[in-house]
Amino acid sequence: MAEKTRVQKQVGLYQLIGGAKNGDLTSQDILKAIKPEMSLEDRERLLAWAKDLGELWEPYAEIYFNLEKARPYHNLAKSIERFINPQKGDIWLDVACGPAKMSEMIYKKSRGEVEKVIAIDIILKPAKERLARLNTSMPIELKCASITDPLPFPDNFFDGIVANLCLPYVIDFEGKRGRDAFEAVLREMFRILKPGGHMIWSTPKANVHFQWNFVASIPDMLNVWEYIYHKDITRILQGTTILKHALKIQENGRKGIYTFLPKDELEELLLQIGFVNPVWEKTFTQQVWVNRVYKP
Ligand SMILES: C[S@@+](CC[C@H](N)C(=O)[O-])C[C@H]1O[C@@H](n2cnc3c(N)ncnc32)[C@H](O)[C@@H]1O
Repeated sequence: MAEKTRVQKQVGLYQLIGGAKNGDLTSQDILKAIKPEMSLEDRERLLAWAKDLGELWEPYAEIYFNLEKARPYHNLAKSIERFINPQKGDIWLDVACGPAKMSEMIYKKSRGEVEKVIAIDIILKPAKERLARLNTSMPIELKCASITDPLPFPDNFFDGIVANLCLPYVIDFEGKRGRDAFEAVLREMFRILKPGGHMIWSTPKANVHFQWNFVASIPDMLNVWEYIYHKDITRILQGTTILKHALKIQENGRKGIYTFLPKDELEELLLQIGFVNPVWEKTFTQQVWVNRVYKP
């Protein structure tokens, strides 16, 4: 009798290292957690994760907030704001929150009436800095969690999810890579979303060219008034660094480490998973799709 080949589900990367010890995670923590008794495959998976975090997300976290100062990100945030509909008493999730701009937006769009926004990331420093600047009475809860693993929330938990520019960047989900990892992370979003809830997420388009964002950001980088009135010189200094990181993301997409699919393929995948009523908007200098879907 022919034996069926089974794809073995593996332990998620976050679980493999025993989770974050000090509230968030660094690439050094991942490297330290690699043990000789681990299988070669697991050691390689962890090395790839440490590289992704150390070469891209850690340095990016230091400057990422500058993106918000330029019009492409502003337009992207506006698209997301139009698509979300948070209500009184809702619990929302901000996935891979970065500086938690989306959490603040969810709270404000609900006129301060959501019960709670849970903002997850593995690097929480930018979100902590934003919350320290804002009214601390906002019910925004920061939590270290990784989209490489099943998330620590029950089924049907969230009224709404925002996942801005993060789901396609998953490099490994329980040993799955590339498109399979991306599909698994979308399924995880479906699991934790309540029936009737909606998810708004975004992805670079297939064959993205982030160079256009840099070009479109030049007027904001050269904004003389910001230099004079706010003494803000970070814009021009960090514009090229942001471009460098964006090009790295683009390269990871071309190599299949990240997964940027054409819109038709994305829609087919979302419907296959069980989401309904997809609506799309292209923004971020036409380089990013924003999508809203519902769980029936
Ligand atoms: C392009 S930023 C998006 C930030 C934010 N969502 C926004 O609205 O601007 C990608 C974020 O993914 C986070 N990230 C990278 N790998 C992650 C992982 N495995 N789990 C959770 N977050 C991760 C990074 O730290 C970074 O904050």
